[in-house]
Amino acid sequence: MGYHDTPERPESSEVKLSNSVAHGERILSGMRPTGRLHLGHYHGVLRNWVTLQQTHDCFFFVADWHALTTAYEEREIISQNVWDMVIDWLACGVNPNLATLFIQSRVVEHAELHLLLSMIAPLGWLERVPTYKDQIEQLRERDLATYGFLGYPVLQSADILIYGAAGVPVGEDQVSHVELTRELARRFNHLFGREPGFQDKAEAAIGKMGKKAARLYRELRRRYQEAGDDEALGEARALLENQQNLTVADSARLAGYLEGGGRTVLAEPQALLTHAPRMPGLDGRKMSKSYGNTISLREPDAQIEQKIRTMPTDPARVRRSDPGEPEKCPVFDLHRVYSDDDTRQWVESGCRSAGIGCLDCKRPLIEAVQSEVAPIREEAEALEADPEQVRQIIGDGCGRARDVAQDTMREVRSAIGLDYRPR
Ligand code: TRP
Ligand code: SF4
Repeated sequence: MGYHDTPERPESSEVKLSNSVAHGERILSGMRPTGRLHLGHYHGVLRNWVTLQQTHDCFFFVADWHALTTAYEEREIISQNVWDMVIDWLACGVNPNLATLFIQSRVVEHAELHLLLSMIAPLGWLERVPTYKDQIEQLRERDLATYGFLGYPVLQSADILIYGAAGVPVGEDQVSHVELTRELARRFNHLFGREPGFQDKAEAAIGKMGKKAARLYRELRRRYQEAGDDEALGEARALLENQQNLTVADSARLAGYLEGGGRTVLAEPQALLTHAPRMPGLDGRKMSKSYGNTISLREPDAQIEQKIRTMPTDPARVRRSDPGEPEKCPVFDLHRVYSDDDTRQWVESGCRSAGIGCLDCKRPLIEAVQSEVAPIREEAEALEADPEQVRQIIGDGCGRARDVAQDTMREVRSAIGLDYRPR
């Protein structure tokens, strides 16, 4: 792909959410431990987490089982990456006093919900998730013809539903997974949100109303269910409120029966699309480990300098005396992220008039990136020296996560009818 085929312009470095979730509500997100985090993770995800933790009940976790779905043979790598990643999160300002931080595989309830959801997940839905075929194409050197890989989004659904998350911050590529999560929740509620014999009990309750009221109830229910007539729904609810001879339970049943469903056991989450600017890498493409164009969050100053000094520039600027065009230069993309208007103007006129050299142009960037990374790197080094503290943070987080997950699983087992007792 040629450089600047798609001139994506980061408008501002502010992070926005397209669909906001009310303050205090639960937000959940996971990250696969795929290696050292870099500036792309910081600008794309972590700064957003740090903001969200101030206003929401945030659960952030290491999706180590998800990493296994595509890298099942890389045991040591995954285990090393898990701790490195947690340290990077903390070093960037993710705060364990505000957010719950945990590791997926340490809350085994995720696996139980994944199993139960897999019973009702239609194969066609999974095969149609766009990331399924894309990933198989992209990782052709790996054998992804596995049961676990097909189930990747079912596991993700379990991650989300087990915490009753209202919002899930994700990148564009993950929106289809949140959509699948919503569909699985709806299907689960439809299948299991009813008490045994719900329909019979509802019909019996109708029989307890007077003949005229019963006829009216059926008529209104039909109008709502067949034609989506909201007025009919309102009238039917009012009718129920005025029925003196119905028990509370029967009245609740008939209210549920109106809309067709029963109880909501699993809540449908919202995808929160992160509008972070695309973080340009050292070659102008998106910063990504697979392109080898990253600056890591632990990069030493000297290496930051070296990497930026050797960045490619506008290829038309061969000699110092040749004028250049910032719009055709990956270095200028970094100025869009790191520099103020004055500096950018200085670059634009200096480049076009050959008034500045490329190294002059890169100098303020080197300094800006160094001063962004230095405190993160230093904090990470301090945490590396204190593994006990990191273990403690994750231990606490796993405990809190487990409490929530266990509550949900009790509800889920009972809804499915798995809470058998000897009769
Ligand atoms: N699939 C996500 C990714 O690759 C990681 C993930 C796993 C996740 N479970 C999740 C993200 C639950 C949000 C919510 O980025
Ligand atoms: Fe790129 Fe700056 Fe050199 Fe112009 S002066 S080509 S913007 S590095």
